[in-house]
Amino acid sequence: MLKKITTAASVIALCALAACGSGSGGAGNGTGSSGGDAITMGFAQVGAESGWRTANTKSIQEEAKAAGIDLKFSDAQQKQENQIKAIRSYIQQKVKVIAFSPVVETGWDTVLLEAKRANIPVILTDRAIDSDDTSLYKTFLGSDFVEEGRKAGDWMVANATGPTNVVELQGTTGAAPAIDRKKGFEEKIASKPDIKIVASQTGDFTRSGGKQVMEAFLKSQPKIDVVYAHNDDMGLGAIEAIKAAGKVPGKDIKIITVDAVKDGMTALANGEINYIVECNPLLGKQLMELAKKVVKGENVPARVVTEEGAFNQEQAKAALPNRQY
Ligand code: AHR
Repeated sequence: MLKKITTAASVIALCALAACGSGSGGAGNGTGSSGGDAITMGFAQVGAESGWRTANTKSIQEEAKAAGIDLKFSDAQQKQENQIKAIRSYIQQKVKVIAFSPVVETGWDTVLLEAKRANIPVILTDRAIDSDDTSLYKTFLGSDFVEEGRKAGDWMVANATGPTNVVELQGTTGAAPAIDRKKGFEEKIASKPDIKIVASQTGDFTRSGGKQVMEAFLKSQPKIDVVYAHNDDMGLGAIEAIKAAGKVPGKDIKIITVDAVKDGMTALANGEINYIVECNPLLGKQLMELAKKVVKGENVPARVVTEEGAFNQEQAKAALPNRQY
């Protein structure tokens, strides 16, 4: 009896985690559930850590509905074990395709092999994994994060006017965008020994994390010229800390961020951020197109790179009125 209750409880817990038949899909999207020709997609999202993530989730849910795809959506709250549980639940539910944005790069081979053995194709979206076995997924749709870091580094090199101390607010430890944005930035500033990263710590891609780490940097670092934040939210948290310390963000301390979500672009247009590299969260439409193809067994490119730009303060003012996210 006790065993039965425990089993029932774990199914409910798994359903809550994997949002069985909910999100924009399930019975709610009018496409029916797994019966008939409807494609059922299990999507394991990273979490709701940033404005970028909110826009990404909205895009996936809206585009699934528009494409007639029955979406089962789960939020892993930035924990790899939650994403793995959600993927296992999608395998049990025999969805037609699994898509996910891996919270960190490593540790996916076992669960992806389980999906492969169950003949369920997997699409990586937004973030990549670090695995030698590329047969574990059909395609990877998302940004070139190293290139984003390079764009930030190019701006730094072009705008440094002498010895420059940079503090870096890193994204989630072990996540592809944190690793790659650091790499691209360092690659570019290597040509200018005067530009130094004097402190670097994770703010977990959240506003509160960025604020907390920046408060500590302001106490421990005698001279900070520039903040390089791996996303807008951490940069916005840093702005709060800089103001609280009696300094002027964008002037006393320059700020470079990545994403270009509305809140970030507003701060850029107001002069509190100096440069933003764009990272496009609107991946839903391309994801649904790729999903339809992989379910039919059609060939898809191994890598689909998102096109994106970068904004200075004047460009942000011009772009803001039409910004979708
Ligand atoms: O993986 C994309 C990154 O994740 C975004 O830049 C960041 O805001 C989000 O949390």
